[in-house]
Amino acid sequence: MKVSEIYNLAINKGIEEDFRGREGVAKFLKRKKERFEKLTEEEKKEFDLETLENPYSDSRILHAADDKDIKRVLVGIDIEPAEILLAKELGGIDLIVSHHPLGKALANLSDVMELQCDILSQYGVPINIAEGLMKERIEEVARGVNRVNHQRTVDAAKLLGLNLICVHTAADNLAANFLKEKIEGAGPERIEDLMALLKEVPEYKEAVKFGVGPKLFTGSENNRCGKIALTEITGGAEGSPKLYEKMAQAGIGTVVGMHVSEDQRKEAEAANITLVIAGHMSSDSLGMNLFLDELEKQGIEIIPCSGLIRISRNQ
Ligand SMILES: [Fe+2]
Repeated sequence: MKVSEIYNLAINKGIEEDFRGREGVAKFLKRKKERFEKLTEEEKKEFDLETLENPYSDSRILHAADDKDIKRVLVGIDIEPAEILLAKELGGIDLIVSHHPLGKALANLSDVMELQCDILSQYGVPINIAEGLMKERIEEVARGVNRVNHQRTVDAAKLLGLNLICVHTAADNLAANFLKEKIEGAGPERIEDLMALLKEVPEYKEAVKFGVGPKLFTGSENNRCGKIALTEITGGAEGSPKLYEKMAQAGIGTVVGMHVSEDQRKEAEAANITLVIAGHMSSDSLGMNLFLDELEKQGIEIIPCSGLIRISRNQ
């Protein structure tokens, strides 16, 4: 497979398992196109045309050094210049895949967060409230990532002539859908049942060994789960802390997330929402693994690094 084929596979898998469904994604892209067509010629020059085809602004080909057939891939949750050097040191690495966004994909991270409005609305939060509170948060994230040194790792890959891509929301969608199906299939009654269910997932089982298995951030094991929402596994970055009160009013009892800030935790507690934090690197690994399994099936060797807990489901 070539770099572009691997990248397209990631995007397509992300769309396949997107909570909005294929139709929802198509609608989102159609609207993007309509808005693009209304821009002036000057504005069109600055417009990123890839956003018309790819719904995940945080997943990109960052540097295509050559067009070779990819046989060995170094994959990590965070790729920094250290991992680029590591690839060089290891030798024979045809492509480096980062989960967390870099370069342009990091600069445009906030663009994918609109997905969270759709997910919140599916769980019963009125769309106007979801959009209102998310708008504030999306702008905050956009400003937050504005100051960082986006191109640092990309520059390192360019200097060493290494192919580099990042797959963020496209992979998080796979983790979110996997967990949704598992949880809804089992229908756990109490939080302890939900925790036990999560610990059946090999990535979480592995994370338990490092002290970062699924943890309860609010509520107790004895609590009943109520309606369980998977609102914080995919969608770019953490949502607004103000949402918890609205989620409680929408009938949500438990939120399963990857990670939360202390501000969010306090708001969830005040709203009597039980927060089950499945784990960050482990949840990121779960989504990446479901994509990497497809590469493995094509005979590509996967070398995990930088926090990726590699579990293959191909056997
Ligand atoms: Fe992450």
